[in-house]
Amino acid sequence: MKARIAVLAGDGIGPEVTIEAVRCLRAVAAKFHHDFELIDAPVGAAAMDAGLDPLPASTLALARKTDATLFGAIGSPRYSDPEAKVRPEQAILGLRRELGLFANLRPVVPQASLRHASPLKDNLLEGVDLLVVRELTGGIYFGRQQWLEDSATDECRYTVAEIERIARVAGRLAQARRRKITSVDKANVLETSRLWRQVVTRVMSDEFPDVFLEHQLVDSAAMLLLSRPADYDVIVTENLFGDILSDEAAALAGSLGLLPSASLGDSKRGLYEPIHGSAPDIAGRGIANPYAAISSAALLLRHSLDLEAEAAALEKAVAGAIAAGVLTQDIAPRGMAAADTRGAGAAVLERL
Ligand code: IPM
Ligand code: MG
Repeated sequence: MKARIAVLAGDGIGPEVTIEAVRCLRAVAAKFHHDFELIDAPVGAAAMDAGLDPLPASTLALARKTDATLFGAIGSPRYSDPEAKVRPEQAILGLRRELGLFANLRPVVPQASLRHASPLKDNLLEGVDLLVVRELTGGIYFGRQQWLEDSATDECRYTVAEIERIARVAGRLAQARRRKITSVDKANVLETSRLWRQVVTRVMSDEFPDVFLEHQLVDSAAMLLLSRPADYDVIVTENLFGDILSDEAAALAGSLGLLPSASLGDSKRGLYEPIHGSAPDIAGRGIANPYAAISSAALLLRHSLDLEAEAAALEKAVAGAIAAGVLTQDIAPRGMAAADTRGAGAAVLERL
């Protein structure tokens, strides 16, 4: 097939890990006889350095007209002034909003050979296979924001329609898995959470009667995610809680550098990014873990291009590289020589 893919590498380790994902996409295209056109565009602090907006109009236009976007990471200590009106992070929020990418899928499947990398006991990790479905274009991230003389406000707002559509995404995904949904909210305190719980309950009982639904308060969920992680199948939650819980879930896998994500809307067009950030502390050293970025490319093949066999082949190659012990410093056991970013990418390519 022919496909056009926007590549927005962004900041910090973004370009280092994205280039490995790009190499893998090219290799998949060659192996399976596809024609992928990969088009780079500036975003984030990298765009600001070039005198552009964090999300230049041309970059947004490219993302709108391509089949999918591969995204690296965003954020820079050079633009961290809390009073600044223009910040790199606005680019990713703008892309999610403008492209209508309201559903963020963050799968967490710890690999047996990486048990050492997780702070959790081995027996707790047995059987863990969960999917965080994070609402991505509503809630406190997109409410009215205000900074006055001696106060600041972030408004959290959810509409019934916003909750219904994310509940349906979670319901459909649960039907293809173990048919269990844990909806996470803070309904004992927040109005938006009480609405969330009511709407999710209705959508599930009306449209997904075959899916088991439970509700958890976010504080308790944060604890249970570490004490009984294997109990989860699909976790559906609002924007901010999903942001926090998915980073926490990375501890199960062993590193933020392993977790990919897919951001989807009503069409096939999606944006794919590792859940990690730009990691300025290790940027430029070629030691970042590219597996999350490469796994994000696999999700792109699956969800935007409907190339399931190709996606599975890429995921298998990543799993193979990890099982063979090609591990970057974030997941290498103490005392073992760590692979660099390029080496890890090459180990995946070799197995494709
Ligand atoms: C993520 C990130 C972003 C978010 C930041 C970079 C704005 O943490 O994708 O999880 O908070 O959504
Ligand atoms: Mg986050």
